[in-house]
Amino acid sequence: MTDKLGTIKDPDDLSGDASLLYSDKRGPSAARANRQGLEDHAMTPTTPSASTNPRPASSGRPGADTGSPGWEARTGFDHVYDQPDLRGYFQALGPFGYQIPHHAQEVFRRLVAALKPNNAGQRVTVLDICCSYGINAALLNHDLRLADLWARYTGPETTTLSVEELVSADQVFYSAHRHPTGQLARVVGLDPARNAIDYARAVGLVDAGFAENLETTSASAALLAAVRDVRLITITGGVSFLSPRTFQPLLDNAERPVWVAAFVLRTGSYQPIADALAGYGLVTETSTCTFPQRRFTSPAEQRYAIDAVIATGYDPSGKETDGAYHTNLYLSRPSTDIAAMPFTSLLPDS
Ligand SMILES: C[S@@+](CC[C@H](N)C(=O)[O-])C[C@H]1O[C@@H](n2cnc3c(N)ncnc32)[C@H](O)[C@@H]1O
Repeated sequence: MTDKLGTIKDPDDLSGDASLLYSDKRGPSAARANRQGLEDHAMTPTTPSASTNPRPASSGRPGADTGSPGWEARTGFDHVYDQPDLRGYFQALGPFGYQIPHHAQEVFRRLVAALKPNNAGQRVTVLDICCSYGINAALLNHDLRLADLWARYTGPETTTLSVEELVSADQVFYSAHRHPTGQLARVVGLDPARNAIDYARAVGLVDAGFAENLETTSASAALLAAVRDVRLITITGGVSFLSPRTFQPLLDNAERPVWVAAFVLRTGSYQPIADALAGYGLVTETSTCTFPQRRFTSPAEQRYAIDAVIATGYDPSGKETDGAYHTNLYLSRPSTDIAAMPFTSLLPDS
């Protein structure tokens, strides 16, 4: 079961239409396309290096699936979240086909494009929560796909470089790959992982980055100043770490209504966060299709996920039962924006 999604081993593996990787409720042909997409990525798994081997999930997360039966079977990758650069992250997650930033790339670009006309000619400020090493920022503002990053950070081009050499090489690399129309958004990154934030800032992937955990501490004055004009909050791969506590100071501080776009594992409920966003006048809509996040690391992890998905009220058939975590996209916006730009016209493939 676990080998339907494969290791991404060359830049073309994720370069196709993202919709081919969706699993959805749009009918048998779309479901076939989804399965086809997943099977197209079935490749020989590689063995993670000792330093990047997955470990049991850490406990004490605020996410709604924390503490659900079998939670301890979930594999944690916390040990690669705060390294001096992002090579360990790609080496650890690559063998399990981690791909949610790939699905998010086109969605976030469309949302930025939709917000731009009402932004007084200024670049839209995006706050990427759980930004890690700046992967969503890299994909938003550069003419690159996730598969390109995978190839770069697991391949011979960067293997022997020191951290300092990698940072210098990456500054050149990303400058050479600026999106043809220029920087699409001003990206601020937020993540407690100090090393990851330092890397993202040093390379220039984020315009500003803050190593803060708003679940446990108050937002700094510098962070609040940097995101006062935020228009879009994005999250991939991290909602299970978050509760309304992270959003409240950011939304209290924002000078205009904010859109929140989050890819959320189906193993937990987004309702507590959606309820909190409703307090700020944001109505939450959900994608009809789902987006695969990564393959399970073990049958035990798959069993945990299937049970958690059922407990959350979803049907795992053809999704988690086929070997991968799936996410829903949640988009929260003011009702006036929803009326002016319906979800289905903004994101017709979702
Ligand atoms: C799976 S990584 C996702 C990184 C990136 N968004 C991606 O999709 O590739 C999860 C990230 O969430 C971060 N994280 C954990 N707790 C957090 C918190 N309270 N606030 C913000 N980020 C947090 C971790 O440090 C880690 O970088």
